[in-house]
Amino acid sequence: MRITPANAVNGEVKLPGDKSISHRAAIFSAIASGRTVISNYSRAEDCRSTLQCLRQLSVQIDETATTVTVEGVGKRGLHAPLEPLDCGNSGTTMRLLAGVLAGQNFESILTGDSSLLLRPMQRIIGPLSDMGAKIEGVDDTAPLRFSPAGRLSANSHELSIASAQVKSCILLAGLYADGTTSVIEPGKTRDHTERMLRWLGARVEEQAGRLSISGATELVSRDISIPSDLSAASFFMVAAAILPSSRLELPGVGVNDSRAEIIQALRAVGVSVDVRNERLVSNEPVADIHVSSITQESDEPLTIERDRVALLIDEIPILAVLGSQLSGGIEVRSAGELRHKESDRIAAIVANLQRMKADVEEFPDGFRVRRSRLIGADVESFGDHRIAMAFTVAALVADGDTTIHGAECVDVSFPGFFETLRSVVR
Ligand code: S3P
Repeated sequence: MRITPANAVNGEVKLPGDKSISHRAAIFSAIASGRTVISNYSRAEDCRSTLQCLRQLSVQIDETATTVTVEGVGKRGLHAPLEPLDCGNSGTTMRLLAGVLAGQNFESILTGDSSLLLRPMQRIIGPLSDMGAKIEGVDDTAPLRFSPAGRLSANSHELSIASAQVKSCILLAGLYADGTTSVIEPGKTRDHTERMLRWLGARVEEQAGRLSISGATELVSRDISIPSDLSAASFFMVAAAILPSSRLELPGVGVNDSRAEIIQALRAVGVSVDVRNERLVSNEPVADIHVSSITQESDEPLTIERDRVALLIDEIPILAVLGSQLSGGIEVRSAGELRHKESDRIAAIVANLQRMKADVEEFPDGFRVRRSRLIGADVESFGDHRIAMAFTVAALVADGDTTIHGAECVDVSFPGFFETLRSVVR
């Protein structure tokens, strides 16, 4: 994809449904009793992978242009798949479904594309095995083979990695365990699982940072409306921030606190972000966001470290691009998890910024970028949708054209990304 520099972005942006919430809506409604109509389900490839896996587990799912209808089969109503379940590029599909499959009385295999087969899975194999699940991986990685294990035993898990996927996997397995399963996270992560379980009638207790769920829990179907995806919005918000005289309206976006740190980060460096008309939709906070270019820039570097990393985990590629345009630059630390995403995101960010002649330094657990004049270049997506979208935005402020190689991977989270961007570029 060849990108020509832009002057500004202006107008209204229609974003896809939130990817994280879409996965949960499909999986949870599949194991609920009764029919769930999901509106604004994400059409991203990752979310398609989840629907496809659920269909292979004998869940009937009907799609129209605007809705996905899931005929819930109840906790015990899934059937053995005839073939391995292909999660494609989607870590969320694999790690959440693993929690469900661990408790089934049939065999199954979870597999995925070449990127997903490299990602660490011991973080779920360990806790699930502690609950009595029978899982075999290939060392730390998928394919994961599940054998019937009988009823799981409820356990208390203290996690060493702040990961919403791992937390969610354990809470789902907890639905198939004797007694109460609990999880303590080392830092806050997105809480869509807890919110949606409650929406579907479950009691998820939270006390002193410990989340608990009883194995007696049954989920009851209830229609779900998915907010637009704040992580997808972040590419547009940063484009508006760094292109002078820009203003974008982003209606109906999820602004859940455990995801909205991007808004605080943008405000801290002088971007005007107006959050209007906040409301609760299917137990998720939603608002209309208005964002315009940086006015009063701060000279302080944008620093992201420790507990803030998990809250911004998917936004760090685009924040790196923002940092390259800030007088204080950006420094990201304690973010080694970024090396285990759809690509090694630290390496990918640093390599592409270097190709665009930015002043950038790599650390084992992060990077630093100083204010730079970006030069149009040939950059790589590294097969990672967020890298492709972040460097598309970088290209808008560069001198000269940029070519993004492997740009088609944007479909993993945002089909239509380039068309949507074209509609607001001036
Ligand atoms: C997600 C959690 C995060 C995030 C991913 C989606 C989720 O992963 O990076 O894009 O939906 O739970 P981790 O939980 O592994 O950090």
